[in-house]
Amino acid sequence: MSQAPSPEQAARLTIASIARMHAEGERIAMLTAYDYPTARILDDAGIPMLLVGDSLGQVMLGYDSTVRVTMAEMLHHTKAVVRGARRALVVADMPFLSYGVTLEGSLENAGGLMREGGAGAVKLEGGERSARTIDSIVRAGIPVMGHIGLTPQSIHQLGGHRVQGKTRETGRQLLNDALAVQQAGAFAVVLELVPEQLAAAITERLRIPTIGIGAGAGCSGQVQVVTDVLGLSRDFTPRHARHYAELYTVIRTAAEAYSNDVRAGVFPGREQSTLMDEAVLDEVLGRTSLDRADSMEMGSGIPLDRDL
Ligand code: KIV
Repeated sequence: MSQAPSPEQAARLTIASIARMHAEGERIAMLTAYDYPTARILDDAGIPMLLVGDSLGQVMLGYDSTVRVTMAEMLHHTKAVVRGARRALVVADMPFLSYGVTLEGSLENAGGLMREGGAGAVKLEGGERSARTIDSIVRAGIPVMGHIGLTPQSIHQLGGHRVQGKTRETGRQLLNDALAVQQAGAFAVVLELVPEQLAAAITERLRIPTIGIGAGAGCSGQVQVVTDVLGLSRDFTPRHARHYAELYTVIRTAAEAYSNDVRAGVFPGREQSTLMDEAVLDEVLGRTSLDRADSMEMGSGIPLDRDL
């Protein structure tokens, strides 16, 4: 017997919701998320798609590239994001070599991100070269988002974070990659670091939405790394990102104020403290009310535990 979906399940966006947004001409805003509280805030803000990107490696775990990220790490963070996001479609990145080695291995790992991680879709890098893998994962019932252009897992081969597709050959290859990803059954494709005109031309030629990052405004949607958008790091911010907040400064200022208050003895204050019944304390300490030190005077405005 099939069970009625809970209100939360019913509200969760799916790839059908994304296709509907695309068909209605709505531009799709996607952000990365790696933890429960951030996912919760982004979900509350109405972001429809959250990407648990393997950028996790650099921005959260301090690795020097995405190549170091493991399946166990992706699973751990995907679970947290899924718990935080009630409405957004959560897309989990397949980490380096978790796909494309054998079809069985690719299926097993994509399945793990859905079954164990709770993701609603997976993302993997590569155009024509990944088409067979995408096809077999989609046939197993798992929605796949493609990722072409600058593919960070191939950074050692590409030789750096450079715009892709600027020459006749590489531009044509990129168009073929986009068509191959669509043909293989992907529901959307990320275009990373692609010239604006080429990204717009690819978008016009595809039925599925293109999600750009450093690919201009002509894509069907945009994705950004959340820490770039929030100004959380003082490290390098890519040219394609815009700071919508300066969280580095906000957090640092708050931490300094807290530290100053602790050192000055003004945190915690009365509002953050609780008093106990003095008679009970006398019993605990084995003293009489006459022994009570005057120095224990704490004012009368703080409620007793029993009164809370
Ligand atoms: O891992 C990631 O954050 C990504 C985005 C840059 C698209 O793949």
